[in-house]
Amino acid sequence: MKERTPLVAGNWKMLGDAASNTALLDRMRSAFDGGNFARIQALICPPFPYLALAADRLRSSPVVWGAQDVSDQAEGAFTGEVSANMLRDLGCTHAIVGHSERRGMHGETDTVVASKAHRLIAAGICPIICVGESLAQRQSHLTEAVLAHQIDAVVGVVKGGAAVIAYEPIWAIGSGRAATPEMAQAAHAFIRARLQAGGAPADQIRVIYGGSVGAASASALFVQPDIDGALVGGASRNADDFVAICESATQAKF
Ligand code: PGA
Repeated sequence: MKERTPLVAGNWKMLGDAASNTALLDRMRSAFDGGNFARIQALICPPFPYLALAADRLRSSPVVWGAQDVSDQAEGAFTGEVSANMLRDLGCTHAIVGHSERRGMHGETDTVVASKAHRLIAAGICPIICVGESLAQRQSHLTEAVLAHQIDAVVGVVKGGAAVIAYEPIWAIGSGRAATPEMAQAAHAFIRARLQAGGAPADQIRVIYGGSVGAASASALFVQPDIDGALVGGASRNADDFVAICESATQAKF
């Protein structure tokens, strides 16, 4: 039993439309209203245009909502960007930063990721900072070196403790091949030790796992001592699967 509240976050990526996202939010809301999820935190991260919809459908429910990205700038002439203060206006409690799809496809560096996390914390929003190695890096035994570099880049920003780290091995994302619980636990323990070494309150910072988490794989991951929840992509687009993963988190930690 641990003092950190498990977090199960759904990353909807660029999926859905007004009709399907409304239906999914409503199905999740009724499952959460009818269940006992007080011991975990459940979060949905829809695309930006549906944040107001999430706020409307989830208001006063146990489920919170957040964004998938944020600008590294405070405000100004940055066409297409969305600021942390705007996310706060929409009631976001969390935002994902440094997802591998943004690092890989949009050239986000560790420095940019750290700036985004800083903007969120300054706005009172909890960043979910994604880190993780590629398959080639794992096969070359570079996993710890990569994680060390990514954690060191943000450790100064997360010293206040109001942050989440998501360990997402790139080879596990969307592949249907989650890391084994032992593999994930080893990476999470390394991340926690690295946070501690950098002066961050590692006992308070939740380290969640992402990469092909499903209803079947969740419980074995959640019983690991350093796995404090999950960042769920594909399975978060199915209300039954997402709720089942949340139920596993409720049972695993208490
Ligand atoms: P997945 O995605 O669960 O579909 O592997 C996870 C993520 O990209 O955050």
